[in-house]
Amino acid sequence: MRNVLPINRIRRSGIKDVQLIGIVKDIRTTVNGHRLIELEDETGTATLMALKNNKDVIQLAKEVLLDEIIGVNGRISKNGDLIIIQNIVFPDISIQNNKQRAEIPVCVAFVSDIHIGSKMFLEKEWHSFLKWLNGNLGNSRQKDVASKVKYLVVPGDVVDGIGIYPNQEEELSIRNIYRQYEALAKQFELVPDHISIIMQPGNHDAVRPAEPQPAFEKEIQDLFSGKDVTFVGNPCYFALHGVEILSYHGQSLLDFATNIQNLKYNEPIEIMKVMLKKRHLTPAYGGYTPIAPEHFDYMIIDRVPDIFVTGHVHMASIDNYRGVTLINASSWQAQTTYQKMLNFVPDSAKLPIVNLKTGNATTMDFSQKIT
Ligand SMILES: [Fe+2]
Repeated sequence: MRNVLPINRIRRSGIKDVQLIGIVKDIRTTVNGHRLIELEDETGTATLMALKNNKDVIQLAKEVLLDEIIGVNGRISKNGDLIIIQNIVFPDISIQNNKQRAEIPVCVAFVSDIHIGSKMFLEKEWHSFLKWLNGNLGNSRQKDVASKVKYLVVPGDVVDGIGIYPNQEEELSIRNIYRQYEALAKQFELVPDHISIIMQPGNHDAVRPAEPQPAFEKEIQDLFSGKDVTFVGNPCYFALHGVEILSYHGQSLLDFATNIQNLKYNEPIEIMKVMLKKRHLTPAYGGYTPIAPEHFDYMIIDRVPDIFVTGHVHMASIDNYRGVTLINASSWQAQTTYQKMLNFVPDSAKLPIVNLKTGNATTMDFSQKIT
């Protein structure tokens, strides 16, 4: 996109093939099946059209979300009031990304969506996880991995919360929000002392629902005072031994799955690839994800992380996109009635682990009996 013109100069430029960059103001499908995208920059707006019979372009146009920033190569129509899209360019990340590695063989484990306080909290599986972490469960190879775990990253929904969905109280084993965090703190007391915990809120937690979400308030943080816990906001970038992690609970996964045809809610990794392509965690304003009006857009993926982790959808999957390790970090809650209603089967009690020295990622499965 080297020859980008401001939108208000397109007509006067006399150029037929134009490049522009802007924020998507509106998207519509015409009665004939073409797709109209209204693009806005600081100087004006332009109406762009993806023609139905141009398969590549119409496919790209279907991946465009409201409020995201895109680049477009287009040709001005005969009467000059439309720009016919030839190509849509997403910011994306570069093809090759140099991974940062730790100098010592330490591992980070991702423990998402614990949902303590829910009747569906998987107590038995959770306890075998703690037992393994303490070196008292698993074969010698599994015990070796446990001994290398130096960090637990918790990407949100650490408790089940109160009043998150209708009639939730019927599914709660602990009905007081502070008691829920106390119960979690008690569980974390069983985590070995050499392990540091990094904890982030999600949409079930007791912070404001609008993203970006701040770290937990002092009253909650104090419950964990005996432990090495770092409280961060949602989303958050942080580095462990030089390896940069982008951790985002993942509420917007639903917005992506709802608005882009070929994306599915139970395939979060594919959505995370699209987030990296768009360089944004939650572009669309006014969807399911509440977005706080901040002066700075904290949801931008401005730096390319080494590891990108989400939770929220309770799936356990690991993949790689252009050198970035992608993780959806499972959950410790069995299927809820809400998930049952949506016909959604969670992939719970799995623990994704990354060795920060080798970059290797594996999953420990606590949904099955480990001897
Ligand atoms: Fe959750």
